[in-house]
Amino acid sequence: MAPARTGTAELGLLNEIAPDVERLYNRHLEAPRLWFPHEQINWGEGSSFVDRPWSASDYPLADGVRSAIYVNLLTEDNLPYYTNTLLGHAPKGHPILDWNHQWTMEENRHAMVMRDWVHISRCIDPTLLEEGRRVQMATGEVPQPETIADLISYVTFQERATQIAHRNTGAHLPKDDKIGRNVLGQIAGDETKHFLFYRDLANAAFAIDPSTMMIATMKQVCSFAMPGTGIPSFTRHAVRIAREGIYGLSQFLKDVLEPVLTLWDVNHLEGLSAEAERARLELAAFVEKLQVTVERMAQKAARASAVTA
Ligand SMILES: [Fe+2]
Ligand SMILES: [Fe+2]
Repeated sequence: MAPARTGTAELGLLNEIAPDVERLYNRHLEAPRLWFPHEQINWGEGSSFVDRPWSASDYPLADGVRSAIYVNLLTEDNLPYYTNTLLGHAPKGHPILDWNHQWTMEENRHAMVMRDWVHISRCIDPTLLEEGRRVQMATGEVPQPETIADLISYVTFQERATQIAHRNTGAHLPKDDKIGRNVLGQIAGDETKHFLFYRDLANAAFAIDPSTMMIATMKQVCSFAMPGTGIPSFTRHAVRIAREGIYGLSQFLKDVLEPVLTLWDVNHLEGLSAEAERARLELAAFVEKLQVTVERMAQKAARASAVTA
């Protein structure tokens, strides 16, 4: 892991956001989401993979939805490396350390409950899944934001993107898989709370040091990729997931980027340094280019469906 920067500016922002971390952590704890992974699953529906090896016909599903389940679950499996990165930015005695522990505790159940449902429902190939897990976890590849400003900006987008990916995957499951829909809904609910913590922490950091946050946000947005680059055949899966309408450039722009940047009010920040002002222009140009690309993609898809209708 790249060492976290602990320069004066880094420590300054960390110290200044400490009261906001405490406030938002307390808000998080005051609205607990108490659910138990073991209660979400219908255990009686399971059967042995030794006696009855997996077949795609066990649970007919579009390739893009299988890819989404596979990528989402492996990303949750990679939790130890995300925790490691977060802890690297949390000095001893800082309240963000307590938050990181709470966050890890909550994230840990996502892979558990998803894997239980995946194995009982037979919705994806368990051998492929385990091979993917082995490769991904032996690599330990996760994004490494350099500073606390980079980190809270990046994790805001990541939590929101993860929430959207789980929610949309659940909506693509067959209507009669109530357990699968519920499992992904519970996870998406947790991700929503994580997103709100980071979104509002970043908002507080913007009020403290708008220039540092503006530069960090431009950097994170322009290089943002869904976590999972260490997963075998990640690009192939990402293309399928986007084609299925679960998560792609359009969701990144409309469900992740635009609402978050609007809430942070990046277009009206005052007192920016010259470098931060350049970062704001660069970010605006990036978003505009993305809007054009997404619009073109939507028009292309509309023309294609008109031809096949
Ligand atoms: Fe998660
Ligand atoms: Fe999360």
